[in-house]
Amino acid sequence: MTNTTDTAAYYARRASEYERVYDKPERQTDLLAIRAMVAERLAGHRVLEVACGTGFWTEPISRTATSILATDINEEVLNLARTKHYPNENVRFAKTDALTLEGISGSFTAAFVGFFWSHIPVGRTGAFLSVLHSKLPPGALLVVIDNNHVEGSNTPISHTDEDGNTYQRRVLDDGSTHEIIKNFPSESELREVTDESAHDVQYAALRYYWCLTYRAKPTRDI
Ligand SMILES: C[S@@+](CC[C@H](N)C(=O)[O-])C[C@H]1O[C@@H](n2cnc3c(N)ncnc32)[C@H](O)[C@@H]1O
Repeated sequence: MTNTTDTAAYYARRASEYERVYDKPERQTDLLAIRAMVAERLAGHRVLEVACGTGFWTEPISRTATSILATDINEEVLNLARTKHYPNENVRFAKTDALTLEGISGSFTAAFVGFFWSHIPVGRTGAFLSVLHSKLPPGALLVVIDNNHVEGSNTPISHTDEDGNTYQRRVLDDGSTHEIIKNFPSESELREVTDESAHDVQYAALRYYWCLTYRAKPTRDI
């Protein structure tokens, strides 16, 4: 099966094999660095996590944050995330669509988005941020991490559509093939899309990953 549209269904099917992506030997140094960066930046915050998947990032964040509401659209990944150990007992989970965040409310001071930005069509990132910011107070901290494309480490890009979205063809253990959007925005593209709604923007690039950190502007200023 080749599916060019449904990223959510692809990740539901990939749930049990998902964390293998974090075993790639060449990425281990960067992973340690970015894990420390994220945990340090979110320390002491009440975090809304978007598209948390199997909780790979929820776990280290839970060690320094005050609390986390970790959300995802798929029960398949949420069920795996729920089985992890969170020593501070400060994690709750909720099922919701990241593009609407329906049903989500709380006194958050920060949001974390790990490896989901790359799956948002380029024309929809602004709308995604508007929804996310609507759940946060002015000045809230946002931490976004995702992949750089490194030849030989990442799956090759299979095609680019008319809007500039890039796609990868991925094969799961059950033999199914899925063509999904995987975008690799540049620093300037990230700065452009956050320009109106963010201040104190910081961008850090490692070899395999990037990290964008900023503060949400008051909605009235957008
Ligand atoms: C690349 S994984 C990232 C998971 C986790 N944040 C991590 O970095 O390990 C993408 C996640 O997005 C979720 N997802 C896909 N579409 C979604 C949507 N519309 N709303 C919320 N989650 C979605 C998938 O279920 C999957 O867990």
